[in-house]
Amino acid sequence: MKQHASLPDDSAAPPAPRAEREGGQRQALRALLPHLWPKGSVELKARIVVAVTCLVLAKLATVYVPLVYKGAVDALTQPGGPASAVVPMLVVPLALLFAYGLLRVTSTAFGELRDAIFAKVGQRAARRVALEVFRHLHTLALAFHLDRRTGGLSRALDRGTKGVETLLSFLLFNIVPMLVEIPLVCAILWALYDWRFAAVTFLTIGGYIVYTLAVTEWRMKHRRAMNEMDNEANTKIVDSLLNYETVKYFGNEVHEERRLDAALSRYERAAVLTRTSLSALNLGQATIIAVGVTFIMLMAAQGVVEGAMTVGDFVLVNAYLVQLYLPLNFLGVAYREIKQSLTDLEVLAGLKSLRATVADAPGAPALEVAGGEIVFDRVTFGYDERRPILDGVNFTVPAGRKLAIVGASGAGKSTVGRLLFRFYDATSGAIRIDGQDVRALTQESVRAAIGVVPQDTVLFNDTIHYNIAYGRPDASAAEIEQAARLARIHDFILDLPDGYRTRVGERGLKLSGGEKQRVAIARTILKNPPILLFDEATSSLDSATERDIQESLKAISSDRTTIVIAHRLSTVVDADEIIVIEDGRVAERGRHGPLLQQGGRYAELWRRQQESTPETDARDANAPNPEPPNPARALAVEPAR
Ligand SMILES: Nc1ncnc2c1ncn2[C@@H]1O[C@H](COP(=O)(O)OP(=O)(O)OP(=O)(O)O)[C@@H](O)[C@H]1O
Ligand SMILES: [Mg+2]
Repeated sequence: MKQHASLPDDSAAPPAPRAEREGGQRQALRALLPHLWPKGSVELKARIVVAVTCLVLAKLATVYVPLVYKGAVDALTQPGGPASAVVPMLVVPLALLFAYGLLRVTSTAFGELRDAIFAKVGQRAARRVALEVFRHLHTLALAFHLDRRTGGLSRALDRGTKGVETLLSFLLFNIVPMLVEIPLVCAILWALYDWRFAAVTFLTIGGYIVYTLAVTEWRMKHRRAMNEMDNEANTKIVDSLLNYETVKYFGNEVHEERRLDAALSRYERAAVLTRTSLSALNLGQATIIAVGVTFIMLMAAQGVVEGAMTVGDFVLVNAYLVQLYLPLNFLGVAYREIKQSLTDLEVLAGLKSLRATVADAPGAPALEVAGGEIVFDRVTFGYDERRPILDGVNFTVPAGRKLAIVGASGAGKSTVGRLLFRFYDATSGAIRIDGQDVRALTQESVRAAIGVVPQDTVLFNDTIHYNIAYGRPDASAAEIEQAARLARIHDFILDLPDGYRTRVGERGLKLSGGEKQRVAIARTILKNPPILLFDEATSSLDSATERDIQESLKAISSDRTTIVIAHRLSTVVDADEIIVIEDGRVAERGRHGPLLQQGGRYAELWRRQQESTPETDARDANAPNPEPPNPARALAVEPAR
């Protein structure tokens, strides 16, 4: 009755109040039920029926084995039985022995068949749950994802889907069969002999189960502590090695060792407790079974002595008890796995119950783009209600025109873009595209109409080709190259040893900032939307490349509504309207010429940018994330053309 001392059980889920936890687990269990009878799939249902049939057949075979065994023993020990050596007499035990062997194989065969047939049901359920949650995660607002650690999310998803499978198979193939077999065996014993045999069997197995569950529950605490300590020690090691240099600078090796040893000693204590308690569990289980078996054999022996039972009966009752408890060895592990799976599923259910803060209104229509006129009507917004970012922003971009937004770093320029794209909803006021309030439309249709080149481009860890094609996955290679040419990156790509098949690394980090931006521009060109939003789209480029791209962008955006956010004012002089955002409001607006004449904030920014030298330009242009403290430099550079 050994259980594996080292079965993986990382209980990383945060502890919740007990009552709440159990309510959540019940809910998690209920969410699982539909997968036991998957709607719409005849094949899966058939598999479940066949698997359950196999289960029943396997159990019947198992329960029948001791009966045949008894028959064989009786035949062999019959007075004047095989000893008489008459051939026909030998046939009976032989047939019984073969039947015994056959039954054992049958029992195993049906058991394995059941697992094989059910595998697809379990895996399909896991796949469905994973996909459902994944889809749901994509519906949640940007705000949710900014607050989360993605690694934690994918781990929760992973564990939750494994949990679905574990639960289905453990419940269906460990717990339910056990619940069937115990009463069945008790009934057979009662029918064959008398109620006392049934009662002793029932009490022994019942006691075994209660004891195992109770001790396992208690042990789980230590296991969890052990895992926590393990994590802690690991974190210490990694942290210390990462800070190798710092440790050396301060000569703190001994201090580090002491810290690690403290964590290791806590782990040691927890691990020893876990192992000792496992021995206690195993010993207790063995004692309970030994007492039960002894009792049963005493009663059977008495029956044999009194002549009421045969030796075969003696063997039979013993065999039943042993056969019942053997699979129960696994009970402690099954219990722990089930509880763990329930916790994982609960985390998953928690994720699924999150409501998107930006959601489509029921029956929302799709956006119908006529020309692409954009109106911000007294828009007020803050990421946190205690800190307003936009305060009554008004502007209109007529269809096909170009609006430039300028302002200091942190003024809320990118926020305007996020609101238009509906990553967030405005607190008050309205945003309209061709007269339709974006909040009343489907997010999908609004987003399909807008092409965004974001301020910080992140690429998929795949090839350049894949990343550009992401703008329109069905685009042909020629279209992709054309987009790359317009974004002035085609020649660069051809120069790479692997060309378009070059992999860009995690988040695109193998490309320079300017190269990433051009990939982002190419994929937006490929998307070919009626509305364009460039958020510092060329900020990481040198002036020559920037000028080239500006030509392309001008050509692309000539007949589309365009919003350009820029620090370098020279890139927006041709805008139909320029707005300066300051303190969450539009401080100034107008075309470049009149704004300069006005001599206000814009003119001031312009003058300062004119003062900076071309050398500053080149340096800033190559910095991937220019973030100078001084607004004059923040709004640097490039002389007027
Ligand atoms: N998700 C967020 N949660 C809370 N605050 C945010 C969030 N995103 C941005 N902010 C804050 O909102 C303000 C405006 O941000 P925004 O990105 O719109 O600035 P910006 O004008 O684009 O600046 P930059 O020129 O540096 O890109 C900033 O002060 C920023 O700290
Ligand atoms: Mg920004």
